[in-house]
Amino acid sequence: MNFLKSSVGRKVLMAITGQLMVLFVVVHLLGNSTIFIGLINSYAEHLHSLGPFVWVFRLALLAMVLTHAYYGIQVTLENRAATPQKYAVNRQLKVSLAGSSMIWTGLTLACFIIYHLCHFTARLTSDVAGFAGQVPGDVYRMLVTSFSHGLTVFVYVAAMAALCLHLFHGIQSFFQTMGWNSECSLPLFSKLGKAVAVIVLLGYGSIPVAILAGILS
Ligand code: HEM
Repeated sequence: MNFLKSSVGRKVLMAITGQLMVLFVVVHLLGNSTIFIGLINSYAEHLHSLGPFVWVFRLALLAMVLTHAYYGIQVTLENRAATPQKYAVNRQLKVSLAGSSMIWTGLTLACFIIYHLCHFTARLTSDVAGFAGQVPGDVYRMLVTSFSHGLTVFVYVAAMAALCLHLFHGIQSFFQTMGWNSECSLPLFSKLGKAVAVIVLLGYGSIPVAILAGILS
């Protein structure tokens, strides 16, 4: 418990939960990308056939999101309280846009995840009302129906831009927190983090955009 009271302990916990979520984001992207080869329905059926394991996985993911968000908010509030106002401007200049906006991109992602679960998992919004109760059902048709609306595509692409910005700083920060950054490895990890962030944006963003553009129909 003392570990969680120290700021290092909380940062390590945030780094580990963050990286596990990055792993989920990459796996989810690979699964969603099967839409381009016509296999997304088989992929969704395969996932749902895992039965109770789906719920074990969902609860583990929920625990990670809540832990990461709780400590993220706590650390941000503590840092703000400890930083005298008059130094705030100088401090901001030294931090990148991605680094200084972590709390805002993180909160945006929390809102997106709630919306996304209501949208494609619970199917509560009017555009996918016809797919409610058919689990998994025709996931391909559900995505095509939903992303034929410009506003929905905008919301998803904006959320993916927030995710990209969050990972731009977050992946590199993980290696720093774990102490795995030597002078020569830090630039490498920084480039790796940025590359993953851009791939995530282009990969996820390409799905709604391809549907809106009529490439997938
Ligand atoms: C264009 C972007 C995305 C698309 C098209 C998409 C698509 C989907 C679909 C179709 C499902 C429901 C699968 C089913 O019930 O069979 C789903 C579930 C989910 N997605 Fe996404 N997703 C996207 C981005 C994201 C991102 C960026 C995250 C996380 C940051 C995310 C997190 C989740 C979670 C947590 C679930 C629930 C999994 C479960 O049922 O346990 N998604 N997504």
